[in-house]
Amino acid sequence: MKPNEVRRVAVLGAGVMGHGIAEVAAIAGCEVALYDVSEPFLKSGLERIRWSLSKFAEKGTVTKGKADEAFARVHGTLSLEEAVKDSDVVIEAAPEDVDLKRELFRKVDALAPTGAVFASNTSTLPIGEVAGGVSSARAKAFVGMHFFNPPPLMPMLELIRGSETDDESFQLAVALGKRFGKEVVECRKDVPGFIVNRILGPLLNEAAWTVGRGEGTVEEVDSMAIYSVGLPMGLFELADYSGIDTIYKAGTAVEARDPGNVLVAPLFRQKFEEKKLGRKSGEGFYKYKEGSWERPVIPREASGRVNPLKVFSPGVNAAAWLLRNGVCTLEDMEKSVKLGLGFPDGILHMADGWGLDRS
Ligand code: CAA
Repeated sequence: MKPNEVRRVAVLGAGVMGHGIAEVAAIAGCEVALYDVSEPFLKSGLERIRWSLSKFAEKGTVTKGKADEAFARVHGTLSLEEAVKDSDVVIEAAPEDVDLKRELFRKVDALAPTGAVFASNTSTLPIGEVAGGVSSARAKAFVGMHFFNPPPLMPMLELIRGSETDDESFQLAVALGKRFGKEVVECRKDVPGFIVNRILGPLLNEAAWTVGRGEGTVEEVDSMAIYSVGLPMGLFELADYSGIDTIYKAGTAVEARDPGNVLVAPLFRQKFEEKKLGRKSGEGFYKYKEGSWERPVIPREASGRVNPLKVFSPGVNAAAWLLRNGVCTLEDMEKSVKLGLGFPDGILHMADGWGLDRS
């Protein structure tokens, strides 16, 4: 199959990421089957696609006609068989649980056409592990396609090669990513967290340890991140936005595979256990009105109280580790944080500015 022959994409999971990925594929002209196990989740995912497309139409990013056409290309279904039986590409966006993902792919393996490319949107789990659910022939056509929230607005896609991924499938994912209008970066080694979350994880974690040690409040850390460093969102605001369950599970997944690397901060575990999962549950580190894009109020004057270097150094060190271990090129790493996370500059370039002896 050539990349421009991809017509039918199945997206498994209509949650925070899945509905956005389905929308991106539909805008690019693909017929999309959006699958979920739960009718309310599916309905909510479709409503969110409609809302997002209407925003684009309102702002003139697409015409109303094109937005309607894109919406008409998304077909919601509760049947896995119906979702994948004619698919050219299957993109899984299920919760971050390796057993659940493997089991889902085991079923998909039996239902999808021969030759379909399988992709996981896992944010952290090694692709080789997720691909453990499929036959060895399918594992060759298995890639990591890691989108960023919200997929329709974030301009980047991180692509990961599993140990079995063949070149043809990887190149198809690269071309499809470009067709989706994304800049692609390549994660060359299947390390937990890949490029972006390998950097973001320690950073969020250090933010939570900072609050846990009483060295700053949630608002003070976020104010520093936005007004002193230039991030588009505060770190806790971003955790709320991505989902604290996703962040917590991603952190524990890296910790389990690479114990020396992170120690997930108790504050994340506490929020996760209290089911304060962020924007999607109405409360995380901040409170949210349902269905509103309203952002938390983070006072500018609180920005000087936390030293940015203390919070960002673990991210800088993680970036240096990625480079030293040949996980990505310097160019892809700097691009990853700028386009995947909206950093004002590449993280190592920022570190050069701060002084490497200090970061
Ligand atoms: N579709 C269409 N429009 C949307 C939208 C969507 N999905 N989501 C929000 N919008 C709209 C808003 O409603 C708002 O419109 P109005 O102006 O009409 O109110 C507009 O887009 C946003 O405008 P703002 O100026 O308020 O917001 P912004 O300039 O801050 O941009 C952003 C928003 C692009 C999300 C920006 O805040 C940003 O880049 N944040 C960082 C996001 C990030 O880091 N994402 C990656 C997280 S990590 C991840 O996803 C990976 C993982 O594995 C966990």
